[in-house]
Amino acid sequence: MVGTTPRNTGVEGVEGGVGLTALLVAAARAIETHRHDTLARDVYAEHFVLAAPASAGWPVRIQQVPDGDTNPLWGRFARYFGLRTRVLDDFLLRSVHSGGARQVVLLGAGLDTRAFRLDWPPGCAIFEIDRDGVLAFKHQVLDGLSATPKAARIPIPIDLRADWVPALADAGFDPAAPSVWLAEGLLFYLPPAAETYLIDTVDRLSTQGSALAFEVKLEKDLSEYRDSPLYTATKHQIGIDLLRLFDGEPRPDSVGDLAGKGWSTSVRTPFDFTRQHGRGPLPEQNDALAGNRWVFANKPRP
Ligand SMILES: C[S@@+](CC[C@H](N)C(=O)[O-])C[C@H]1O[C@@H](n2cnc3c(N)ncnc32)[C@H](O)[C@@H]1O
Repeated sequence: MVGTTPRNTGVEGVEGGVGLTALLVAAARAIETHRHDTLARDVYAEHFVLAAPASAGWPVRIQQVPDGDTNPLWGRFARYFGLRTRVLDDFLLRSVHSGGARQVVLLGAGLDTRAFRLDWPPGCAIFEIDRDGVLAFKHQVLDGLSATPKAARIPIPIDLRADWVPALADAGFDPAAPSVWLAEGLLFYLPPAAETYLIDTVDRLSTQGSALAFEVKLEKDLSEYRDSPLYTATKHQIGIDLLRLFDGEPRPDSVGDLAGKGWSTSVRTPFDFTRQHGRGPLPEQNDALAGNRWVFANKPRP
């Protein structure tokens, strides 16, 4: 189906390559959890960070960061992930509680623990798709904590550059029932063909009343802000070169694609939500976050 690219291959677990970004987000969520004005609590996050040799020395509280909130990585970038977690928690809960969907598909789930920490209505099924090594590490940590999910949780170890639809169908996903989909911090790591396939697939498997949220980066972000403090700090402090992990090819217009398929779409900046919540990152000069957009899409009922 879709081809592979050396950018995203190689290390299949959390110890390197794109899998390591799952630990970065977990560390950010751990820090957010312990803030006095937290936007999102994830009590599992720090356990992932401390369990992986690659991240065991990273901070899990802002007090462990010598320059605290002025640190571009563990201050502002981590707060960004905290805000993103909260906004997408709210999206998912709204979609199941008022929208009525009972199937949730987390694409590139990484170390997302929403199945364990959110209050899902009865009858919900959470499908978590990520690569085998990432999910294996996640299960090792969660099993050690005797964590119990608050909904039926179905992990699906597969690479999203392959044809992942049969695995989702085998796992019990029902395309005739409404669904909620989330691609949080994922699409910019995928080749354009895999993103197009993902959007087409979500549309094809979504009945009316379904919803999708995803994150994109405007292309100008990748060229204009290459020396942004966020990218530089992430590379120098913990060795994750995000610009190298991102797929560098021109991106498809997924928002336009969905609109053309009849979905209603709303494109927001993270800063919109910072203002709404009264905390989170605000615009800066030379800002890698300036090109991030959070897209909310609904397939209308007749
Ligand atoms: C930045 S992390 C985000 C994880 C999670 N959505 C969150 O926000 O906490 C990116 C995730 O995408 C996953 N990912 C990247 N490329 C993938 C692929 N080709 N197939 C499956 N998962 C992939 C990585 O393994 C990683 O867990």
